[in-house]
Amino acid sequence: MSLTCPICQEALSPVDNGVACPANHRFDRARQGYLNLLPVQHKNSRDPGDNVAMVEARRRFLDGGHYAPLATRLAELAAERKPQRWLDIGCGEGYYTAQLAERLPDADGYALDISREAVKRACKRAPQLSWLVASMARVPLADASCTLLASVFSPLDWQEALRLLAPGGGLLRMGPTGEHLMELRQKLYDEVRDYDDQKHLELIPPGMRLAHSETLRFALPLTSSQARADLLAMTPHGWRASAERRAAVIAEDFEVTVSIRYDWIEKI
Ligand SMILES: C[S@@+](CC[C@H](N)C(=O)[O-])C[C@H]1O[C@@H](n2cnc3c(N)ncnc32)[C@H](O)[C@@H]1O
Repeated sequence: MSLTCPICQEALSPVDNGVACPANHRFDRARQGYLNLLPVQHKNSRDPGDNVAMVEARRRFLDGGHYAPLATRLAELAAERKPQRWLDIGCGEGYYTAQLAERLPDADGYALDISREAVKRACKRAPQLSWLVASMARVPLADASCTLLASVFSPLDWQEALRLLAPGGGLLRMGPTGEHLMELRQKLYDEVRDYDDQKHLELIPPGMRLAHSETLRFALPLTSSQARADLLAMTPHGWRASAERRAAVIAEDFEVTVSIRYDWIEKI
């Protein structure tokens, strides 16, 4: 076990129904099987991270298979790296994590999210993994303990990523390109802001380097009002756009461009 105490950073060992460190900081295992390693003093709010409505919307949308090609490619890229221990940072409700687990059956897999509602649901998808409610700013795993980190549509603490990676390991990041969901954004806003999908590369810290990038792009017909409503609810557009524009999007079928980039960023 390479879990560390989120309070004193000493190693955690299994105890009855949970884990504890030598200083006797104890963390119980929840009924669903995950460990809550987010002490109250590290929470910025009572219920940090995505809320139930967002988590449920994302779960319905992803289980509908609309983004299945994205998950397949993510898992293929991860399997090529043959990691021994991997961690999905910001795993949400675990759709991508479960596909990583399926392609990495012999590796030691971990997944964390700050949202308890997300992890509660995620851990049912792949009970063989170690699921954690924890913050990506203080990951309760030892230095150099991982050979692969996954970051899928999530924010990232680059210094923590660097600390967690063993030399030769790397971060597999998946995020939108500037044209992702363009048609949806055009329907929601008068002016569609073009965002820079290279920006994250400027954040790569010394000690890591970009080794590979690729883009996966396809047209996705949105033919059910539930799928359109869920896509809105699982993105910031759900609260950013006006109620009128959102209703118009939900009302009629249309096609969106899905355009995602994968970056493999190695620890040197
Ligand atoms: C856009 S969602 C992506 C979820 C999942 N990777 C997916 O693509 O389905 C971003 C996730 O990051 C989580 N998150 C935000 N801040 C976090 C933090 N400081 N530590 C851990 N997770 C965090 C949210 O709770 C949310 O589940």
